[in-house]
Amino acid sequence: RNFKSRTACRNDINRLNAPFLAIYESLIPPEEEKGKQKQLMKLLEKLVSKEWPEARLYLYGSCANSFGVSKSDVDVCMTFEDPDVNKPEVLLKLAEILESDNLQNVQALTRARVPIVKLMDPATGISCDICINNVLAVVNTKLLRDYAKIDVRLRQLVFIVKHWAKSRGVNETYQGTLSSYAYVLMCIHFLQQRQPAILPCLQGMERTYAVTVDDIECAYFDQVDKLSGFGSRNRESIAQLVWAFFSYWAYCHDYTNDVISIRTGSIISKRAKDWTRRVGNDRHLICIEDPFETSHDLGRVVDRNSIGVLREEFERAAEIMQNDPNPCVTLFEPY
Ligand code: CTP
Ligand code: MG
Repeated sequence: RNFKSRTACRNDINRLNAPFLAIYESLIPPEEEKGKQKQLMKLLEKLVSKEWPEARLYLYGSCANSFGVSKSDVDVCMTFEDPDVNKPEVLLKLAEILESDNLQNVQALTRARVPIVKLMDPATGISCDICINNVLAVVNTKLLRDYAKIDVRLRQLVFIVKHWAKSRGVNETYQGTLSSYAYVLMCIHFLQQRQPAILPCLQGMERTYAVTVDDIECAYFDQVDKLSGFGSRNRESIAQLVWAFFSYWAYCHDYTNDVISIRTGSIISKRAKDWTRRVGNDRHLICIEDPFETSHDLGRVVDRNSIGVLREEFERAAEIMQNDPNPCVTLFEPY
C-alpha cells in the first residue's frame, strides 16, 4: 500500500525514457573495442600455446556477457585438463612470458582469493586479468549473455544500475558493497518477477545445454532465439523499470527472510538455505544466490556497516526517481 501511494505521484515518468536511453547508448562500447579484444586474445593465445599447448583461453565477465561498458577491463580464463594444476607456478611463469613480450604492468597476484596475472597491452591500451581453471565463471558468463538476448530492457537496466553503482561507490567488494556480477543477478531476478514477467527462468526449462563443472551440474534452456518475444506482454518502459528496481530494493525486499534466486525464478527463504546466521565471514545481510554454485551468496561480502550504506543508496535512488525534477543527473552524482 505504502509502495503504491509513493509511485502514484509521478505521472511524467515516461518523460525520462529518452534521457535514460541516451545514457545507455553512451555507455555501449564502440565496435572497434571488440576488434582490439580479439587482437589481444590472439596475442595471448600465441604466447600461451608455446609454453602450454594443451591450455585454452576463454573470455568471461563483462567483455563476454554483454554487460560491459566502454573501456572495461578484459577478464580471461586459462583452462587446463588437470584440475590440480599448480596455479601459482603457472601464473608466475605466465607473468615472466608476458613481461618478456613487452606487455606492461605485469603482476602475478598468486595469493588472491582468485589468483590472477594482471597486464596492460600497450598496442590496444586494454587492461586484462588472467585466471586459471575458473570454468564456472565462463559458464555463468554464457548464462548472463543468453538472458541479455531475450529482452533488451535487461541490458538497458544493467547498464544504468552499474553506472549508478560505480558513481555512488557501491560497486566495491573490498569495501563490503556488491560486485557487478551481483547487480546483474539482481536485475535478472527483478525482471523475472515483474507481472507479466519480462524474463523467463532458463534453469527451470528444458535443458538444451548442460555441462558439469567441479561436480556442479550446470544446465538450462539456451535456445534463447526462440524466446525473443517473451517479455512483450509487459510494456513497461526503461524509466518505469529503473524506478521500480530501486523501489524494490528500497522498500519491498524482505532483507530478514528472503534470498533472491534466478535459478528458481523466485524468492527462497534464508531458512531453507540455512543462511540465517553468520558463519565465518558470511553474514547473509542481503542474499543473492549464485545460479550454479548455490551455496554461494553473492551478498556475503556485505557487512553490518555496508548494508546500511547500500540500503541508504537504494532509498536515495528511489526517492530521486520519485521526486527529483532531473533524476538522470542527480541519480549519478558522485558521492
Ligand atoms: N564472478 C563469479 N563470482 C563472483 C564474482 C564474479 O563467478 N562472486 C565471475 C562472473 O563470471 C563475472 C566475472 O567473474 O561475470 C567478472 O565479475 P565482475 O568483475 O563482478 O563483473 P564484470 O561483469 O566483469 O563487471 P565490470 O564491468 O565491473 O568489470
Ligand atoms: Mg570485469
